[in-house]
Amino acid sequence: MCGIVGYVGEQKAAPILLDGLGKLEYRGYDSAGIAVYDGKKIGMKKAKGRLKVLSELTHDGETLPGTLGIGHTRWATHGEPSDVNAHPHLNAEESIVVVHNGIIENYMKLKKKLIGRGYQFLSDTDTEVIVHLLDYYYNGNPLQTITKIMHRMEGSYALGIIFKDHPEELYAVRKDSPLIVGHAKSGCIIASDVPAVLKYTRDVYFIENEEIVRMKKDSMEFFTVDEEVIEKESVHIAWDVDAAEKGGYEHFMLKEMYEQPKAITDTFSPRLKGNTIEIEELNMSDEEIQSIRKLMIVACGSAYHAGVTAKYVLEGMARVPVEVDLASEYRYRDALIDEGTLIIIISQSGETADSLAALRESKQKGARVLGIVNVVGSSIAREADNVMYTWAGPEIAVATTKAYSCQLIALYLLAMKFAKVRGTITESELVQYIEDLKRIPDQVELLLNNKNRIQKFANRYLAARDVFFIGRGIDYAISLEGSLKLKEISYIHSEAYAAGELKHGTISLIEEGTLVAAVLTQENLYKKMLSNVVEVRTRGAFVLAVTNEGNDQVEKAADYVIYIPKTNQYFTNSLAIIPLQLFGYYISVGKGCDVDKPRNLAKSVTVE
Ligand code: F6R
Repeated sequence: MCGIVGYVGEQKAAPILLDGLGKLEYRGYDSAGIAVYDGKKIGMKKAKGRLKVLSELTHDGETLPGTLGIGHTRWATHGEPSDVNAHPHLNAEESIVVVHNGIIENYMKLKKKLIGRGYQFLSDTDTEVIVHLLDYYYNGNPLQTITKIMHRMEGSYALGIIFKDHPEELYAVRKDSPLIVGHAKSGCIIASDVPAVLKYTRDVYFIENEEIVRMKKDSMEFFTVDEEVIEKESVHIAWDVDAAEKGGYEHFMLKEMYEQPKAITDTFSPRLKGNTIEIEELNMSDEEIQSIRKLMIVACGSAYHAGVTAKYVLEGMARVPVEVDLASEYRYRDALIDEGTLIIIISQSGETADSLAALRESKQKGARVLGIVNVVGSSIAREADNVMYTWAGPEIAVATTKAYSCQLIALYLLAMKFAKVRGTITESELVQYIEDLKRIPDQVELLLNNKNRIQKFANRYLAARDVFFIGRGIDYAISLEGSLKLKEISYIHSEAYAAGELKHGTISLIEEGTLVAAVLTQENLYKKMLSNVVEVRTRGAFVLAVTNEGNDQVEKAADYVIYIPKTNQYFTNSLAIIPLQLFGYYISVGKGCDVDKPRNLAKSVTVE
């Protein structure tokens, strides 16, 4: 997720671009850049770091004259945060310049072809292929050239483009990444999101997939990929800037929950090639995968909970032994590692002190370390031997939702890959798992749309003192995360318990009216779980059950039931966690807590 802006008009472009980028910094903030065309040359400045570095460098835009320009605030995907990797990107002749939000999935293939044709690449970004592709196909007609490259690019993109020989035109195009346009101060403005344009207009055009826009200072034309003109209606935006940053949602946490379907798709789709799974960044031959004797997953908090799920998935599917450790414990327990051990460190921020220390400890012992990380160029990403990125985009709410969901997806992909290579699943099983994986985004969407029902239920429990989450197997892992979501943002004491373990002590805490959330998605454990539900209910508990569609029997045992759509036994966490995230969220909202910034917590825990 990055932020793009563009302006063509009568005003100086640079200050408008910087102002717009300031409103988009929540979309990415590791580097920024602007390019402005003054009629003679395209001037460009880029800088690693927050936007203020770029503002200082350009004296608030004064050093870049011109009334046509594009800008970008970056959340690194390909290539770590740096001046060269920052956007915009220019062709060698400095006659075409591009900003990009999204991921070009086939960029390696395109890059190879372009290198073969003599193009030189300066950055590690996928975006640079776009500008060279434009250069390669450019025939003096920007619209035709843009449609040509659209047919060649796979993945997602929102682009702002300037062609030097069309000095009064700004082009924009999108596919699966957001883009809006509106009339600004005597001109037109493009942006990734509404906050960047609110100062200038409240009437915007939402660009749909594969639509192209040509803007001049006093006109705006929309085209299809077949260069046919389209008529579009503007939409009036009533939000204030604060609400607009959150896309109209009340909190970043809710917005990020709603971003899960896209984040999940972004995480799996570049790694699915037909009916095979390709995780190039693993950089492991089939022989190396076959020779793994043990996996050790090390992480903190929710990332650890993703690891607990992965233990069941990897052991079940790929039949490889998995240990899961809290990083703060692992780093001091002198774990036994040999050359057959692969260490997997999971971290959203890539900066968590204990996880980083665990990584270093493992490397010192000679182990190979794979990082599953969200922030490109973070310490864990840099120091791990290999990195598999989750493409969740920046997460602002302290309580993780979309990054956790993407960690699960990355781990499923790993399990499927290992299982296929190690021969523990058949071709047809793999195809079925891939089908199930592809259905998750829509299923998540469906569950999110059921939010009113969960909100109503949550409102009845605002005064709860203790809540227990119970489950077996993967359902226990889901319970761990459901419980953490609730307690960290609502300050209600809650615990997750392996349901079979309750009777060894904890059940004495159950009394009249205690809320117990029971997760029952594992068919082989369903009957056992039903007994556990009865156990707590007969002691006075009020039971909220989360189970698979069709498990109607639970209606008799529980007080309130939430059904999740059908998937295979390994992927249920991705669905069952949604109502639990919503439950924690609505309790927090109902209690008037600071949802996005809960007390005593920080987004990135860089101290031990
Ligand atoms: C909980 C949460 C934390 C993080 C943990 C690890 O909602 O966000 O428990 O999961 O602090 O952080 P990362 O993934 O950045 O290493």
